[in-house]
Amino acid sequence: MAVSLLWWYSFLLFSFFNLQVVNGIEIYSMKIDSKVTSRFAHNVITSRAVNRGNVHKEVVFDVELPKTAFITNFSMTIDGVTYPGTIKEKEVAKKQYEKAVSKGQTAGLVKASGRKTEKFTVSVNIEAASKVTFELTYEELLKRQFGKYEMFIKVKPKQLVKDFEIEVNIFEPQGITELEAEGTFITNDLQNIIKKTFSEKKGHISFKPTLDQQRTCANCSQSVLDGDFTVKYDVKRTTPDNLQIVNGYFVHFFAPTNLPNLPKNVIFVIDISGSMSGREIEQTREALLKILDDIKEDDFFNFILFGSEVRTWKETLIKATPENLDEARKFVRGIDTAGMTNLHGGIMRGIDMLNAAHEGNLVPKRSASIIIMLTDGQPNVGISNTQDIQAHVKKAIEGKYPLYNLGFGYGVDYNFLEKMALENKGLARRIYPDSDASLQLQGFYDEVSNPMLTDVELNYPENEISDLTKNSFKHFYDGSEIVVAGRFIDNNQNSLTVDVRGEGVSMDFFDLSTVHKQTAKAFQEQQYIFGEYIERLWAYLTIEQLLEERIAATGEKKENLTAEALDLSLKYKFVTPLTSMVVTKPETYDNQDGIADKPTEGRDIFTVLLYLRIDGDPHFIISVPQKKDAICFNINENPGAVLNLINDPVTGITVNGELIGDKRVNSDAKIQNTYFGKLGIANKHLDLRLTVTPEKITIQNGNEKTGFTWLDSVTLQQEGLTLIINREKSLVLKMGSGASFVIVLHQVWKKHPLHQDFLGLYALESEKLSEQTHGLLGQFFHPLDFTILEIHPGSDPKKPDATMIVKNNELTVTRGWQKDYRRDPKHGVDVPCWFVHNNGAGLIDGVHTDYIVSSLF
Ligand SMILES: *[C@@H]1O[C@H](CO)[C@@H](O)[C@H](O)[C@H]1NC(C)=O
Ligand SMILES: *[C@@H]1O[C@H](CO)[C@@H](O)[C@H](O)[C@H]1NC(C)=O
Ligand SMILES: *[C@@H]1O[C@H](CO)[C@@H](O)[C@H](O)[C@H]1NC(C)=O
Repeated sequence: MAVSLLWWYSFLLFSFFNLQVVNGIEIYSMKIDSKVTSRFAHNVITSRAVNRGNVHKEVVFDVELPKTAFITNFSMTIDGVTYPGTIKEKEVAKKQYEKAVSKGQTAGLVKASGRKTEKFTVSVNIEAASKVTFELTYEELLKRQFGKYEMFIKVKPKQLVKDFEIEVNIFEPQGITELEAEGTFITNDLQNIIKKTFSEKKGHISFKPTLDQQRTCANCSQSVLDGDFTVKYDVKRTTPDNLQIVNGYFVHFFAPTNLPNLPKNVIFVIDISGSMSGREIEQTREALLKILDDIKEDDFFNFILFGSEVRTWKETLIKATPENLDEARKFVRGIDTAGMTNLHGGIMRGIDMLNAAHEGNLVPKRSASIIIMLTDGQPNVGISNTQDIQAHVKKAIEGKYPLYNLGFGYGVDYNFLEKMALENKGLARRIYPDSDASLQLQGFYDEVSNPMLTDVELNYPENEISDLTKNSFKHFYDGSEIVVAGRFIDNNQNSLTVDVRGEGVSMDFFDLSTVHKQTAKAFQEQQYIFGEYIERLWAYLTIEQLLEERIAATGEKKENLTAEALDLSLKYKFVTPLTSMVVTKPETYDNQDGIADKPTEGRDIFTVLLYLRIDGDPHFIISVPQKKDAICFNINENPGAVLNLINDPVTGITVNGELIGDKRVNSDAKIQNTYFGKLGIANKHLDLRLTVTPEKITIQNGNEKTGFTWLDSVTLQQEGLTLIINREKSLVLKMGSGASFVIVLHQVWKKHPLHQDFLGLYALESEKLSEQTHGLLGQFFHPLDFTILEIHPGSDPKKPDATMIVKNNELTVTRGWQKDYRRDPKHGVDVPCWFVHNNGAGLIDGVHTDYIVSSLF
């Protein structure tokens, strides 16, 4: 009784709270749990939904993540069974995807996302009254900008959620100096729901609005939760805590404060080709005028404009005196568009001018030179071959100045801009064509407007360290932070000598040569948040840098960088542009495998594969995804009969099931109910036999026997076999080639007068079995098509009959509902399908007695 009581109780509870049901689906819980340790954020989004309708429904889980984050895990739990995602090389995952498409199964594409985000989407069909839990984990290294680390969480539950919560825990060994939390959707009323505390090293934020607080108005069912929730904080600049060592890895955070800014020499190279006319050039003028207000008197600057021709404001760099700035404003106001895109001419003129300024000592020796180029198109005048432009630019700059490329709109060849910037120690940014484009331009300028050091190098004793991330940087800007991580050659080492050099405004060498002695002990307390974070931070940073380096690399170097980044992505389970996450999506009716890609520019792919299940009765349900429908049949045999379900001569896998009946014979019924009471799964090639009953699980490997009960929680991994027992719920078995099975334990109320406990079988990744697979279930692993004609009333007024054409046979079928006892063992849940009578005659190959075998193995 316990099971059904609980079920009714939760049903009443939800009714009481006024159902927040959208299209039959209620998301009753959504939790965003974020743990940040030393800038490294580990976020888990958990969403729970229930199908309140009376037919199966699609539940969509879609979230937006920061582009800089890597997904590290995803799982779905349906009715207590967890289906995990696994990270695979993209090519491998793609093959699986292509195979699905060639089988005629549907595939979905999800569209690009916002400026800072990528969209992750998975959808799953769940039965009436079923529950599903989605759990997504992603990790990210928070970057310091304008003196703060910023983390944003996209919030958009699309309906009122009974149990909604964002919780952020921050641990920073250097000590937290400030902590802010805000949301674009936060009204005055909501402001005091955000709870924020911090002391010393720990910060905590929680946001937990009630149902009523989520409403857009008193009785509305719309949610105000739609926007960005942002957490910002900064830390004390303390040594030696800026150097952290845990388990053989170190990370070094470098962000000096109180240094005077260096004067800078800025060349603005601006595209004025015809395509910039209208709003783009207006916004550019507006941004340049604002930037002129911020230029400091010690700075030098100039403008170079390129259309078909190249035009400069002044022949050389000019000091930012008030008079010169006034003159510059006049010039900027007069900028207009003309001609085509001579990008090569523009950028080369800029570099030559900067080179000449340095050679002629026109600009201060201690200064930071920067080239900022803005373009909205592709080079088409002068030298327009992008490879030639890259080569010329690289040769002319010679690593002396960073080149920042801003790509305005979508007409740019962004790859080219990015490659060229990265080759020259700068970076590329997209400027989105929107009303705030001029703010985006200014924002970028602000980031680079306060250089403090040039040619920064962080050195560590070579004989103690390996796998160091990037350790030399052209400029250090105020408000940012340099992060270097590495690995100790001796795992037990827990101190390190650090030597930092850079050129500042007043010193020949700004020398921070210091010795940091740090013991691992000091950091035990932060492992309460999550252990191994420095190793993961190191892996994240290394992969990020390898991928960046890869953009500008070619040939064997590119191959090597790719291989290295792929290795690390697989090892540390990061979904990067080189890996995909494959999610085996079990569905009762439309059964799917999903592939979640890290999109290069916001594109997700998921695919649909066939999936089958059999359950109590024993009824067989075969989903046909392309028809969004299902076929079902029963096998009526006596208790004790053993049926061959799957038989694959190639992989050597066989699955047989033995029937059990009800506790006592129901004299009113012509046909006795039967269930699977014993399943035998064997792999001939591995000499492996697994016997499962509602009481116990036995593995026989050669002569070796191991036994478990359903009360065990087990994860067993040995050669060719993975076995996971989810206590009293289900068992996942993966064998040899990778085909896997899930066996669900259906527990009936102990004192049930009729029924007894039985088993349900689910076959996952059936494409890993061979083409020769057969058996009552196995024959349907191959594509199946059917046509339904002449739907007409049948003997039961509620269940129409129809003619089904399948495997060249014409069958009379009945639209029916098969009982599914998984959720409600007492009453069962009805599931719609076309029922094939007479033990599946005409649908299955041969007759059902062909599948009766003499024993379980
Ligand atoms: C992924 O998440 C699932 C569900 O929480 C968990 O069981 C599994 O251990 C996780 N995998 C990894 C690699 O962390
Ligand atoms: C909300 O609904 C209640 C009950 O139906 C009603 O009494 C109340 O006036 C409504 N409030 C608003 C603001 O519409
Ligand atoms: C690429 O890797 C191979 C094998 O490690 C190495 O021999 C080769 O020198 C590498 N090539 C480049 C260009 O780094």
